Amino acid sequence: MKKGYFGEYGGSFVSCQMQEELDKIEREYNRLRKDKKFNDELSNLQKHFLGRPTPLYYCEKLSKLNGGAKIYLKREDLNHTGAHKINHCIGEALLAKHLGKSKIIAETGAGQHGLAIATVCALMDLQCEIHMGFVDVQKQKANVDKMKLLGAKIVCVSGGGTLKDAVDSALKAYQKDFKDAIYCIGSVVGPHPYPTIVRHFQSVVGKESKRQIKKMEGKLPDYVVACVGGGSNAIGIFSAYLKDKEVNLVGVEAFGKGQAIGENSATIQFGATDVYQGFKTKVLKDQENNVAEAYSIASGLDYPAVGPEHAHLSDVGRAKYVSINDEEALDAFYKLTKIEGIIPALESSHAVAYGLKLAKTLSQDKIVLVNLSGRGDKDVEFVLKEKGLG
Ligand SMILES: Cc1ncc(COP(=O)(O)O)c(C=O)c1O
Repeated sequence: MKKGYFGEYGGSFVSCQMQEELDKIEREYNRLRKDKKFNDELSNLQKHFLGRPTPLYYCEKLSKLNGGAKIYLKREDLNHTGAHKINHCIGEALLAKHLGKSKIIAETGAGQHGLAIATVCALMDLQCEIHMGFVDVQKQKANVDKMKLLGAKIVCVSGGGTLKDAVDSALKAYQKDFKDAIYCIGSVVGPHPYPTIVRHFQSVVGKESKRQIKKMEGKLPDYVVACVGGGSNAIGIFSAYLKDKEVNLVGVEAFGKGQAIGENSATIQFGATDVYQGFKTKVLKDQENNVAEAYSIASGLDYPAVGPEHAHLSDVGRAKYVSINDEEALDAFYKLTKIEGIIPALESSHAVAYGLKLAKTLSQDKIVLVNLSGRGDKDVEFVLKEKGLG
């Protein structure tokens, strides 16, 4: 496969100056990932700072009430800062240090990537600048407050006010600050080498889950299910199973309020191939062929593009992509909370909702492994308001 490409998707479509920076990042990443000292440092932080390995949890009550297959959760919600995002942030921050950078610029949607970056910046004495759409700033106040406490500068972005605008704004800021800053992207998106780097640091999720399920069940899961915004938690868990053809991989996009333009974020289902934000992938378009506004009740899923590897996995049929609407996600949010005592992030609730639907159609000897990408603390206020209780 061509370097930086997943089938026809990926690559790098940026200015010459930015390409020079990305080449430097790629060279350092390639050197570090084989470096024992770097890997020991990373493992040490994964264990003692992030709290890895995260548990694999059998939802016995929920599985029995739901009927059908056994439902397991990979508990990425139990990571320090509450989501899988810190897995790649810790790697990206170490990379920044090795490149001699003093500042990290990043975007965030749900605030989980921003919170994780702000946290590792505090730990490693790096300046931190987080770009966030004004809609998400209001919706994810809990995370914004934490980022501020950690010392991050928050840049509140206008336009549509969501993740797409935050990425545009962060990329613009990075282009004015190549000397001191590094851009740390929040998913397996962006120009090469970002999708490859983020995938590498997220692959720990899949590797751990494979060891854990073999130990607990003596076999691999029949299905692995994960929500897809840009696609980092999904690639993180899928990567360990790609060669195990008997394991079905399912990515869950947000169907939002419906199939009309601007009502969902189901990029693989409704998108067209194009170059966007420096890479080639599937992109949601409006009637004028402009990039459409994406929507989901979950701020971390409302991105109008998707990681290039997901577009490829869909094309070749190795992974299947489905969608779950706002109402179904909210229903799964309540169910997991009330039945298992685990409050999931609204993003992860999409994966839980599909996992439940799927498990019902399968026999009791089957296993559905759902990646619980994050916890719902950030969503509690919003969900209570939705329920009329806030
Ligand atoms: C908890 C959680 N899960 C999933 C996502 C979606 O991102 P990705 O598709 O890169 O995993 C986000 C994004 O903010 C998130 O906060």
